[in-house]
Amino acid sequence: MARALLLLLLAALPALAEGLGLGRELAPEEVQAYDVTPIVLPDGRGLPEGEGDYAAGFEVYAFECASCHGPNGEGAPFDRLVAAEPFSTELPPHRFAIGNYWPYATTLFDYIYRAMPFQEPHKLEPDEVYALVAFLLVENGIVPEDFVASRETLPKVRMPARKRLRLDPLTRKLYPWIELP
Ligand code: HEC
Repeated sequence: MARALLLLLLAALPALAEGLGLGRELAPEEVQAYDVTPIVLPDGRGLPEGEGDYAAGFEVYAFECASCHGPNGEGAPFDRLVAAEPFSTELPPHRFAIGNYWPYATTLFDYIYRAMPFQEPHKLEPDEVYALVAFLLVENGIVPEDFVASRETLPKVRMPARKRLRLDPLTRKLYPWIELP
């Protein structure tokens, strides 16, 4: 009985919200602005065409990123991006970086493409983001300087912090078939 009532209430919520003058329907352009495709999964699905290397990434980084993340990714005023294993509380402004914390090179692409630069996300082209990922992976000592980031190469990069990523016990119990790439 209680469940039936709850369902009824949930079904009535949109109507209720409308009656109270809450919320509004989004215009297609507004939805579009949030709908960042591709969505890149850890195994690399969704990565777009394109490629970029350290030299190209160096330039984009200096122009688009250094003001917030430091000329060498050392952080300040915002997050540190470059630091090797292991974590160290000595590293200001905080100790998590790509080299000691980020588990997949593929999702680094996704994050930058989706969210950076902070003040104007979505302004970068896939080639620029590939170049940034190559630059950041080299700076973190994960790949050699001649590395070319692309849809083919990023899924093959083994990140130092991958070894620390585990499914939590409840997720493992509920979804025993899930395996992390
Ligand atoms: C205006 C400042 C600003 C600029 C410019 C900027 N970022 Fe950021 N960046 C931030 C902030 C703030 C965060 C933390 C966001 C959060 O935690 O939600 C962040 C987070 C990140 C992270 C995640 C760091 C972590 O600790 O997990 C990465 C990677 C990153 N930025 C890359 C870039 C790249 C690459 C560029 C250049 C294209 C860039 N950012 C430009 C402000 C900036």
